[in-house]
Amino acid sequence: MESPIGEQSIELLQAQAHVWNNTFNYVNSMSLKCATQLGIPDIIHRHGKPMTLQELVDALHINKAKAQAVYRLMRILIHSGFFVEEKISEDGSNMGYWLTQDSRLLLKDDALSALPFLQILLDPLLIKPWHHMSEWFKNNEDSSAFETAYGRTFWDYGSQEPKMNHLFNKAMASDTQLVSNVVTRDCRLVFEKLKSIVDVGGGTGSMAKAIVDSLPDLQCVVFDLPHVIAGLEGTKNLTYIGGNMFESIPQADALMLKCILHDWSDEDAVKILKKCKEAIPSKENGGKVIIVDMIVRNKKEDHEGIETQLFYDMCMMVFANGRERTEKEWAKLFFDAGFTGYKIVCGLGLRSIIEVYP
Ligand SMILES: C[S@@+](CC[C@H](N)C(=O)[O-])C[C@H]1O[C@@H](n2cnc3c(N)ncnc32)[C@H](O)[C@@H]1O
Repeated sequence: MESPIGEQSIELLQAQAHVWNNTFNYVNSMSLKCATQLGIPDIIHRHGKPMTLQELVDALHINKAKAQAVYRLMRILIHSGFFVEEKISEDGSNMGYWLTQDSRLLLKDDALSALPFLQILLDPLLIKPWHHMSEWFKNNEDSSAFETAYGRTFWDYGSQEPKMNHLFNKAMASDTQLVSNVVTRDCRLVFEKLKSIVDVGGGTGSMAKAIVDSLPDLQCVVFDLPHVIAGLEGTKNLTYIGGNMFESIPQADALMLKCILHDWSDEDAVKILKKCKEAIPSKENGGKVIIVDMIVRNKKEDHEGIETQLFYDMCMMVFANGRERTEKEWAKLFFDAGFTGYKIVCGLGLRSIIEVYP
Protein backbone atom coordinates (compact mmCIF):
# COMPACT_ATOMS: atom_id res chain seq x y z
CA MET A 1 0.00 0.00 0.00
CA GLU A 2 1.38 3.36 -0.94
CA SER A 3 1.88 5.73 1.97
CA PRO A 4 -0.28 8.85 1.75
CA ILE A 5 2.47 10.81 3.59
CA GLY A 6 4.38 13.09 1.21
CA GLU A 7 8.16 13.72 1.24
CA GLN A 8 7.82 17.11 2.88
CA SER A 9 5.80 15.64 5.75
CA ILE A 10 8.25 12.72 6.13
CA GLU A 11 11.12 15.19 6.56
CA LEU A 12 9.10 17.16 9.08
CA LEU A 13 8.31 14.05 11.13
CA GLN A 14 11.95 12.90 10.97
CA ALA A 15 13.05 16.31 12.21
CA GLN A 16 10.63 16.02 15.12
CA ALA A 17 11.97 12.54 15.94
CA HIS A 18 15.54 13.91 15.89
CA VAL A 19 14.62 16.80 18.19
CA TRP A 20 12.94 14.32 20.56
CA ASN A 21 15.94 12.00 20.52
CA ASN A 22 18.29 14.83 21.45
CA THR A 23 15.87 16.24 24.02
CA PHE A 24 15.70 12.83 25.68
CA ASN A 25 19.49 12.21 25.58
CA TYR A 26 19.70 12.48 29.37
CA VAL A 27 17.30 9.53 29.79
CA ASN A 28 20.11 7.04 29.05
CA SER A 29 22.37 8.70 31.64
CA MET A 30 19.70 8.94 34.31
CA SER A 31 18.46 5.37 33.81
CA LEU A 32 22.02 4.11 34.12
CA LYS A 33 22.56 6.21 37.25
CA CYS A 34 19.38 4.79 38.80
CA ALA A 35 20.43 1.20 38.02
CA THR A 36 23.78 1.76 39.76
CA GLN A 37 22.11 3.45 42.75
CA LEU A 38 19.84 0.42 43.11
CA GLY A 39 22.94 -1.78 42.82
CA ILE A 40 21.58 -3.76 39.84
CA PRO A 41 24.95 -4.66 38.24
CA ASP A 42 26.28 -5.95 41.61
CA ILE A 43 23.09 -7.90 42.37
CA ILE A 44 23.19 -9.70 39.01
CA HIS A 45 26.94 -10.30 39.37
CA ARG A 46 26.51 -11.80 42.86
CA HIS A 47 23.71 -14.02 41.55
CA GLY A 48 26.32 -15.57 39.24
CA LYS A 49 23.91 -16.46 36.42
CA PRO A 50 21.11 -14.74 34.44
CA MET A 51 18.41 -13.43 36.75
CA THR A 52 14.69 -13.38 36.04
CA LEU A 53 12.70 -10.22 36.54
CA GLN A 54 11.07 -11.73 39.63
CA GLU A 55 14.45 -12.71 41.13
CA LEU A 56 15.78 -9.23 40.45
CA VAL A 57 12.75 -7.53 41.99
CA ASP A 58 13.01 -9.83 45.05
CA ALA A 59 16.67 -8.90 45.50
CA LEU A 60 16.19 -5.14 45.15
CA HIS A 61 15.44 -2.93 48.16
CA ILE A 62 12.41 -1.34 46.50
CA ASN A 63 8.65 -1.20 46.74
CA LYS A 64 7.78 -4.63 45.28
CA ALA A 65 4.71 -3.20 43.53
CA LYS A 66 7.14 -1.55 41.09
CA ALA A 67 8.16 -4.74 39.23
CA GLN A 68 6.83 -3.33 35.93
CA ALA A 69 9.01 -0.26 36.38
CA VAL A 70 12.06 -2.51 36.87
CA TYR A 71 11.14 -4.30 33.63
CA ARG A 72 11.01 -0.93 31.82
CA LEU A 73 14.28 0.28 33.36
CA MET A 74 15.99 -2.95 32.27
CA ARG A 75 14.47 -2.70 28.78
CA ILE A 76 16.12 0.67 28.08
CA LEU A 77 19.41 -0.51 29.58
CA ILE A 78 19.36 -3.57 27.33
CA HIS A 79 18.77 -1.19 24.43
CA SER A 80 21.79 0.92 25.45
CA GLY A 81 23.99 -2.19 25.76
CA PHE A 82 24.40 -2.50 29.53
CA PHE A 83 22.52 -5.76 29.96
CA VAL A 84 21.44 -8.67 27.78
CA GLU A 85 18.63 -11.17 28.11
CA GLU A 86 19.72 -14.80 28.10
CA LYS A 87 17.79 -18.04 28.02
CA ILE A 88 17.40 -19.71 31.39
CA SER A 89 15.30 -22.68 30.28
CA GLU A 90 16.20 -24.83 27.26
CA ASP A 91 13.00 -23.95 25.38
CA GLY A 92 13.69 -20.24 25.84
CA SER A 93 10.40 -19.66 27.67
CA ASN A 94 12.24 -18.25 30.69
CA MET A 95 14.70 -15.40 30.16
CA GLY A 96 17.11 -13.78 32.60
CA TYR A 97 19.09 -10.52 32.75
CA TRP A 98 22.86 -10.81 32.45
CA LEU A 99 25.79 -8.40 32.47
CA THR A 100 27.73 -7.11 29.47
CA GLN A 101 31.36 -5.92 29.42
CA ASP A 102 29.97 -2.38 29.90
CA SER A 103 27.96 -3.09 33.07
CA ARG A 104 30.89 -5.13 34.47
CA LEU A 105 32.77 -1.84 34.42
CA LEU A 106 30.14 -0.46 36.81
CA LEU A 107 30.56 -3.08 39.54
CA LYS A 108 31.20 -1.35 42.85
CA ASP A 109 34.22 -3.31 44.03
CA ASP A 110 35.86 -4.04 40.69
CA ALA A 111 39.45 -2.73 40.67
CA LEU A 112 38.81 -1.06 37.29
CA SER A 113 35.32 0.21 38.10
CA ALA A 114 34.16 3.30 36.21
CA LEU A 115 31.39 3.87 38.77
CA PRO A 116 33.04 6.84 40.58
CA PHE A 117 33.34 8.62 37.21
CA LEU A 118 29.62 8.15 36.50
CA GLN A 119 28.77 9.19 40.07
CA ILE A 120 30.49 12.57 39.93
CA LEU A 121 29.48 13.42 36.35
CA LEU A 122 25.80 12.74 37.14
CA ASP A 123 25.82 14.29 40.61
CA PRO A 124 23.54 17.37 40.86
CA LEU A 125 26.75 19.26 41.71
CA LEU A 126 27.99 18.89 38.11
CA ILE A 127 24.55 19.03 36.49
CA LYS A 128 23.85 22.50 37.92
CA PRO A 129 26.47 24.37 35.80
CA TRP A 130 24.74 23.19 32.59
CA HIS A 131 21.68 25.22 33.61
CA HIS A 132 23.96 28.29 33.70
CA MET A 133 25.66 27.77 30.34
CA SER A 134 23.63 30.33 28.34
CA GLU A 135 24.03 32.87 31.17
CA TRP A 136 27.81 32.26 31.03
CA PHE A 137 27.82 32.88 27.26
CA LYS A 138 26.40 36.33 27.87
CA ASN A 139 28.53 37.46 30.79
CA ASN A 140 32.02 38.83 30.89
CA GLU A 141 33.25 37.82 34.33
CA ASP A 142 33.19 34.04 34.66
CA SER A 143 35.78 31.69 33.21
CA SER A 144 33.26 28.82 33.06
CA ALA A 145 29.57 28.04 33.60
CA PHE A 146 30.74 26.26 36.77
CA GLU A 147 31.94 29.62 38.06
CA THR A 148 28.63 31.25 37.02
CA ALA A 149 26.77 28.58 39.00
CA TYR A 150 28.95 28.56 42.13
CA GLY A 151 30.81 31.89 42.13
CA ARG A 152 34.12 29.98 42.30
CA THR A 153 36.27 28.09 39.81
CA PHE A 154 36.15 24.29 39.73
CA TRP A 155 39.59 24.08 41.39
CA ASP A 156 38.76 26.62 44.14
CA TYR A 157 35.48 24.84 44.84
CA GLY A 158 37.34 21.52 45.11
CA SER A 159 39.86 22.95 47.57
CA GLN A 160 37.08 24.36 49.78
CA GLU A 161 34.42 21.62 49.61
CA PRO A 162 35.58 18.21 50.87
CA LYS A 163 32.63 16.34 49.24
CA MET A 164 33.61 17.57 45.78
CA ASN A 165 37.33 17.02 46.43
CA HIS A 166 36.63 13.44 47.49
CA LEU A 167 34.22 12.62 44.62
CA PHE A 168 36.53 14.15 42.03
CA ASN A 169 39.73 12.49 43.25
CA LYS A 170 37.94 9.14 43.43
CA ALA A 171 36.60 9.54 39.88
CA MET A 172 40.01 10.46 38.49
CA ALA A 173 41.72 7.66 40.41
CA SER A 174 39.25 5.12 39.01
CA ASP A 175 39.86 6.28 35.44
CA THR A 176 43.59 6.21 35.99
CA GLN A 177 43.40 2.72 37.46
CA LEU A 178 42.04 1.49 34.15
CA VAL A 179 44.39 3.53 31.96
CA SER A 180 47.49 2.66 34.00
CA ASN A 181 46.57 -1.00 33.71
CA VAL A 182 46.78 -0.70 29.92
CA VAL A 183 49.79 1.65 29.86
CA THR A 184 51.99 -0.45 32.16
CA ARG A 185 51.06 -3.65 30.31
CA ASP A 186 51.08 -2.55 26.67
CA CYS A 187 52.97 0.76 26.44
CA ARG A 188 56.08 0.11 28.60
CA LEU A 189 58.30 1.52 25.86
CA VAL A 190 57.45 5.07 26.95
CA PHE A 191 59.28 4.47 30.25
CA GLU A 192 62.37 2.89 28.68
CA LYS A 193 65.71 4.40 29.86
CA LEU A 194 63.97 6.69 32.37
CA LYS A 195 65.36 6.92 35.90
CA SER A 196 62.84 9.42 37.23
CA ILE A 197 59.38 10.68 36.36
CA VAL A 198 56.99 13.27 37.83
CA ASP A 199 53.25 12.75 37.41
CA VAL A 200 52.19 16.39 37.18
CA GLY A 201 48.68 16.89 38.57
CA GLY A 202 48.93 13.20 39.48
CA GLY A 203 45.97 13.33 41.88
CA THR A 204 46.15 10.81 44.69
CA GLY A 205 48.79 8.74 42.89
CA SER A 206 46.96 5.94 41.03
CA MET A 207 49.15 6.22 37.95
CA ALA A 208 52.36 6.62 39.94
CA LYS A 209 51.59 3.53 42.05
CA ALA A 210 50.96 1.45 38.93
CA ILE A 211 54.20 2.73 37.36
CA VAL A 212 56.42 1.93 40.37
CA ASP A 213 54.73 -1.45 40.87
CA SER A 214 55.57 -2.42 37.33
CA LEU A 215 58.96 -0.60 37.09
CA PRO A 216 60.42 -0.71 40.61
CA ASP A 217 63.73 0.94 39.58
CA LEU A 218 61.99 4.14 38.52
CA GLN A 219 61.77 7.04 41.00
CA CYS A 220 58.32 8.54 40.80
CA VAL A 221 56.95 11.82 42.18
CA VAL A 222 53.26 12.70 42.39
CA PHE A 223 52.98 16.47 42.13
CA ASP A 224 49.60 18.06 42.85
CA LEU A 225 47.88 20.83 44.79
CA PRO A 226 48.59 20.62 48.54
CA HIS A 227 44.98 19.77 49.53
CA VAL A 228 44.91 16.85 47.06
CA ILE A 229 48.00 15.11 48.41
CA ALA A 230 47.46 16.09 52.07
CA GLY A 231 48.03 13.09 54.35
CA LEU A 232 49.25 10.74 51.60
CA GLU A 233 52.31 8.65 52.47
CA GLY A 234 55.00 7.86 49.91
CA THR A 235 57.19 4.76 49.66
CA LYS A 236 60.86 4.04 48.84
CA ASN A 237 60.43 5.09 45.19
CA LEU A 238 57.23 7.15 45.33
CA THR A 239 57.12 10.66 46.78
CA TYR A 240 54.27 13.15 47.09
CA ILE A 241 55.08 16.83 46.57
CA GLY A 242 52.51 19.63 46.89
CA GLY A 243 52.77 22.75 44.76
CA ASN A 244 51.48 24.75 41.84
CA MET A 245 52.42 23.70 38.31
CA PHE A 246 52.10 27.32 37.11
CA GLU A 247 54.99 28.25 39.43
CA SER A 248 57.45 25.37 39.24
CA ILE A 249 57.54 21.62 38.68
CA PRO A 250 60.04 19.17 40.28
CA GLN A 251 62.87 18.10 37.98
CA ALA A 252 62.90 14.62 36.37
CA ASP A 253 63.90 12.76 33.18
CA ALA A 254 60.28 12.80 32.08
CA LEU A 255 56.98 14.33 33.15
CA MET A 256 53.58 12.76 32.76
CA LEU A 257 50.49 14.90 32.19
CA LYS A 258 47.38 12.75 32.20
CA CYS A 259 44.12 14.64 31.75
CA ILE A 260 45.83 17.90 32.67
CA LEU A 261 46.12 20.10 29.60
CA HIS A 262 42.49 19.50 28.59
CA ASP A 263 41.48 21.28 31.82
CA TRP A 264 42.99 24.55 30.63
CA SER A 265 42.71 27.22 27.92
CA ASP A 266 45.44 27.35 25.26
CA GLU A 267 47.08 30.26 27.05
CA ASP A 268 47.29 28.40 30.37
CA ALA A 269 48.27 25.12 28.68
CA VAL A 270 51.25 26.87 27.07
CA LYS A 271 52.26 28.28 30.49
CA ILE A 272 52.16 24.75 32.00
CA LEU A 273 54.14 23.30 29.09
CA LYS A 274 56.81 26.02 29.47
CA LYS A 275 57.17 25.07 33.15
CA CYS A 276 57.45 21.43 32.06
CA LYS A 277 60.25 22.30 29.65
CA GLU A 278 62.20 23.94 32.49
CA ALA A 279 61.95 20.72 34.55
CA ILE A 280 63.36 18.17 32.07
CA PRO A 281 66.76 17.59 30.42
CA SER A 282 67.41 18.16 26.71
CA LYS A 283 66.04 15.78 24.07
CA GLU A 284 69.57 14.31 23.59
CA ASN A 285 69.60 13.47 27.31
CA GLY A 286 66.24 11.75 27.11
CA GLY A 287 64.00 14.57 28.35
CA LYS A 288 60.36 14.34 27.36
CA VAL A 289 56.80 15.09 28.39
CA ILE A 290 54.34 12.19 28.17
CA ILE A 291 50.78 13.39 27.59
CA VAL A 292 47.71 11.20 28.00
CA ASP A 293 44.70 13.07 26.62
CA MET A 294 42.25 13.09 23.73
CA ILE A 295 43.05 13.91 20.14
CA VAL A 296 39.71 14.89 18.65
CA ARG A 297 38.99 12.71 15.61
CA ASN A 298 37.20 13.60 12.44
CA LYS A 299 36.40 10.15 10.98
CA LYS A 300 32.66 10.26 10.32
CA GLU A 301 32.27 6.48 10.63
CA ASP A 302 33.27 6.55 14.33
CA HIS A 303 30.07 8.35 15.31
CA GLU A 304 29.95 7.29 18.98
CA GLY A 305 33.68 7.88 19.56
CA ILE A 306 33.56 11.39 18.14
CA GLU A 307 30.34 12.18 19.99
CA THR A 308 31.91 11.10 23.30
CA GLN A 309 34.98 13.25 22.59
CA LEU A 310 32.70 16.21 21.85
CA PHE A 311 30.70 15.50 25.04
CA TYR A 312 33.97 15.58 26.96
CA ASP A 313 35.01 18.79 25.23
CA MET A 314 31.76 20.45 26.31
CA CYS A 315 32.29 19.21 29.89
CA MET A 316 35.73 20.78 29.90
CA MET A 317 34.28 24.07 28.68
CA VAL A 318 31.42 24.08 31.18
CA PHE A 319 33.41 22.97 34.23
CA ALA A 320 36.85 24.45 33.81
CA ASN A 321 37.30 26.56 30.67
CA GLY A 322 39.33 23.69 29.24
CA ARG A 323 39.08 21.96 25.86
CA GLU A 324 39.77 18.81 23.89
CA ARG A 325 42.08 19.36 20.93
CA THR A 326 42.70 18.13 17.39
CA GLU A 327 46.23 17.06 16.45
CA LYS A 328 46.79 20.42 14.74
CA GLU A 329 45.74 22.28 17.90
CA TRP A 330 48.04 20.10 20.03
CA ALA A 331 50.99 20.74 17.68
CA LYS A 332 50.45 24.49 17.93
CA LEU A 333 50.54 24.33 21.75
CA PHE A 334 53.79 22.32 21.75
CA PHE A 335 55.58 24.67 19.35
CA ASP A 336 54.24 27.79 21.10
CA ALA A 337 55.72 26.45 24.36
CA GLY A 338 59.14 26.01 22.70
CA PHE A 339 59.16 22.24 22.16
CA THR A 340 60.79 20.99 18.93
CA GLY A 341 58.75 17.89 18.11
CA TYR A 342 56.21 15.32 19.19
CA LYS A 343 55.14 11.74 18.45
CA ILE A 344 51.74 10.08 18.90
CA VAL A 345 52.96 6.87 20.51
CA CYS A 346 49.69 4.96 20.64
CA GLY A 347 45.94 5.20 20.99
CA LEU A 348 44.21 4.39 24.29
CA GLY A 349 40.57 4.13 23.22
CA LEU A 350 39.27 7.68 23.16
CA ARG A 351 42.63 9.02 24.28
CA SER A 352 46.22 8.82 23.05
CA ILE A 353 49.75 8.93 24.42
CA ILE A 354 51.78 11.78 22.95
CA GLU A 355 55.48 12.24 23.65
CA VAL A 356 56.71 15.82 23.37
CA TYR A 357 60.41 16.62 23.02
CA PRO A 358 62.29 19.77 24.12
C1 LIG B 1 41.66 16.08 35.73
S1 LIG B 1 42.63 15.82 37.14
C2 LIG B 1 43.78 14.60 36.60
C3 LIG B 1 44.36 13.81 37.72
C4 LIG B 1 45.30 12.69 37.27
N1 LIG B 1 46.34 13.14 36.39
C5 LIG B 1 44.49 11.60 36.64
O1 LIG B 1 44.37 11.58 35.41
O2 LIG B 1 43.94 10.78 37.38
C6 LIG B 1 43.62 17.29 37.18
C7 LIG B 1 44.58 17.34 38.34
O3 LIG B 1 45.32 18.55 38.25
C8 LIG B 1 45.49 19.04 39.56
N2 LIG B 1 45.78 20.49 39.52
C9 LIG B 1 44.92 21.50 39.21
N3 LIG B 1 45.57 22.68 39.27
C10 LIG B 1 46.85 22.41 39.63
C11 LIG B 1 47.99 23.22 39.84
N4 LIG B 1 47.93 24.55 39.70
N5 LIG B 1 49.16 22.61 40.18
C12 LIG B 1 49.22 21.27 40.34
N6 LIG B 1 48.16 20.44 40.13
C13 LIG B 1 46.99 21.01 39.78
C14 LIG B 1 44.16 18.74 40.22
O4 LIG B 1 44.21 18.79 41.62
C15 LIG B 1 43.87 17.34 39.68
O5 LIG B 1 44.38 16.32 40.51
